[in-house]
Amino acid sequence: MKATAQAPSNIAFIKYWGRKDEEMRLPENGSISMNLSHLTTKTTVEFSNTYTTDEVIIDGKIIIEEQNRVITQLERIRALGKSQYFAKVVSQNSFPSGTGLSSSASGFAALTAAAAKALDLNLSERELSILARQGSGSACRSIPNGFVEWLDGNTSETSYAESLYPPEYWNLCDLVVIVSQEKKAIATSEGQTRVSTSPFFEIRQQKIATKIKDLKQALAAKDFEKLGELSEREAMEMHAVMLTSWPSLIYWMEGTLKLMKQIQEWRKAGVPVFFTLNTGQDVHLLCEEKTAKDIEPKIRELPYVYDTILNYPAVGTKIIDKHLF
Ligand code: PMV
Repeated sequence: MKATAQAPSNIAFIKYWGRKDEEMRLPENGSISMNLSHLTTKTTVEFSNTYTTDEVIIDGKIIIEEQNRVITQLERIRALGKSQYFAKVVSQNSFPSGTGLSSSASGFAALTAAAAKALDLNLSERELSILARQGSGSACRSIPNGFVEWLDGNTSETSYAESLYPPEYWNLCDLVVIVSQEKKAIATSEGQTRVSTSPFFEIRQQKIATKIKDLKQALAAKDFEKLGELSEREAMEMHAVMLTSWPSLIYWMEGTLKLMKQIQEWRKAGVPVFFTLNTGQDVHLLCEEKTAKDIEPKIRELPYVYDTILNYPAVGTKIIDKHLF
């Protein structure tokens, strides 16, 4: 009753920010993302009658803060598998968690797939996506391959993600720039509950269907300029909602702002690169492979840059043989 899964994190071009159903984690709107090759989580889950409690170890540490959310997800999966056994969960991220790189997406996708497999649940991709969504919304997008759309849906069964294109469709890069290892002060889940306090949230919602349509057109045409501009504007609009929520959500740090300005300058000078941001200070640079190779060394020289991680489009969540314990 042991299984291991590997899941990618993902970067959203059109974001999920706000929920219309808290308990089921139904998003206010659909979103579109790309799985990331070098931000991954591996998770091993074992259910056994020898365990007397659920134990969760992430990156070598016994987890207390996030433990309840993990256990709630285990409960859902135990209910489906009609199992009474406690579980041991060991999880390893290939990147720093809690800094805006969406470790909850890869984490809950890997946890869900490994736990379902450990209980022999034989779920379809759609069923896994629905189940992962209940753990962490964006995790549903880490289940299918490549470029992915999360259909918002009005019920749990209709809110899932599906692949739009496989990873090899377009060699788009997400050059992640880490400007600090500091953990964010307000967790994403909690930040999401504040959307209705922003006067700009409704305006954002009015535009979202058009944005999704335009982004899908940019993907279909492999129109990088269009995809980049739409993604950067979307990130700024989401952060406008965050900044104007109450209490206000300020996820940027000094390095974040400096880099955003630097990117705008490079763009003026003709470098085709755009940025997007999630909750956290780290910045995702969207560009094509040639640009990524050109700018990565320059970015690494910037005094406020801690590290970079170059990502290509990736497959979704898969079961692997090598267990972590
Ligand atoms: O799935 P959560 O609760 O970690 O929310 C993810 C929210 C953003 O990263 C800010 C946007 C997105 O769509 O990934």
